[in-house]
Amino acid sequence: MSTTSFLVRKDALSTTRLDTATDAPLADGQVRVRIESFALTSNNITYAAFGDAMSYWQFFPTGEEGWGSIPVWGFASVVQSLHPGVAVGERLYGYWPMASGAVLSPDRLSPARFTDAAAHRAALPAVYNQYVRCSADPLYTSDTEDLQALLRPLFITSWLIDDFMADNDFFGAGTLLLSSASSKTAYGTAFQLHRRQGIQVIGLTSPGNVAFCESLGCYDRVLTYDALDTLAADTSCVYVDFAGNGELRHAIHARFANLKYSCSIGGTHVEQLASKGAGKALPGPRPTLFFAPAQIKKRTAEWGGEEFGRRMVAAWHDFLAAVTGPKDPWLRAEHHHGGQAVQAAYAQVLAGKGDPRSGHVLSLYKQPGAL
Ligand SMILES: NC(=O)c1ccc[n+]([C@@H]2O[C@H](COP(=O)([O-])OP(=O)(O)OC[C@H]3O[C@@H](n4cnc5c(N)ncnc54)[C@H](OP(=O)(O)O)[C@@H]3O)[C@@H](O)[C@H]2O)c1
Repeated sequence: MSTTSFLVRKDALSTTRLDTATDAPLADGQVRVRIESFALTSNNITYAAFGDAMSYWQFFPTGEEGWGSIPVWGFASVVQSLHPGVAVGERLYGYWPMASGAVLSPDRLSPARFTDAAAHRAALPAVYNQYVRCSADPLYTSDTEDLQALLRPLFITSWLIDDFMADNDFFGAGTLLLSSASSKTAYGTAFQLHRRQGIQVIGLTSPGNVAFCESLGCYDRVLTYDALDTLAADTSCVYVDFAGNGELRHAIHARFANLKYSCSIGGTHVEQLASKGAGKALPGPRPTLFFAPAQIKKRTAEWGGEEFGRRMVAAWHDFLAAVTGPKDPWLRAEHHHGGQAVQAAYAQVLAGKGDPRSGHVLSLYKQPGAL
């Protein structure tokens, strides 16, 4: 058996190649999985853009100097097992390399999940090393796998951002400005914020995505990036930054004298990212990186793990109902099978091109009977 991997030049993200290698035999305690589908969104491009700074390249080392494997979220099935607690055929959701297969060393097993105990992952954030066992997962249904792959890690972040803002009384502000308002993580955030009383949610986006953002019905106003001056300069606001665009961030900090908090979430504008240390020279509050695990820890301590899970699952089901609503679904999955299709989809996501209503679901595994 062999595994096909999609590799990216770490210093030139548009340079990619496919690599197929013969599988090494498993060691005792390991399992081999076939990665059947994974989502690719700007979130994954951001993993690559911050691959060195935030260790994302270290999850799935390629062994080749200068080349990396971008982590993705999706589904896999166990095809070979030398672990007594994990059966062949078991379905898993988690963090995978962009490849047709992977090898895990399951540890700390419970009916709901296990951890990959591979030595090279031990020092990396635990949240990425956990594999959810679909048969015991309250979020799982087989007919929503595409949406889970596309939205689950993003929506959990959105839900936590909303909770963090409310938990801090919106830092005393009445307006939230969200950049890359057309991104899935921003619209999940706006979906949650829109239900709160007494705050205005303003989406900032590029001209081609204004109509889409307006159609979502969760932004009180949608503005293009060059229309900041249509908002009063004394607006008391919080900036929730999904774009990571240095110039835009500077413009927002410079214009709004009542900017109460600047929350850095991501970097969709991968060609215009703020340079390292640029925050020090900004007027107003220093941009603060949103750290989702900290809010999870706080709420788990306050609410208890069970109640935290109950609220999160309820919010997910609400969101999913809206996304798949019969009226006008926000998102439709577009499938891409095989190496060339994956390369083409990757180029599209990297360039930020395409319809924001499309979510790309990819697969490098060769289906039986395929050429
Ligand atoms: N901190 C965390 O824990 C966490 C968790 C989840 C996501 N995030 C971050 O949230 C951000 C959104 O992720 P997503 O997966 O939800 O995004 P997505 O749905 O793939 O976002 C697509 C949108 O991003 C903008 N965009 C994408 N590529 C671009 C490019 N090359 N040039 C200019 N604009 C581009 C465009 O929006 P506009 O036209 O509206 O700008 C585009 O419509 C990512 O940066 C991600 O890292 C962070």
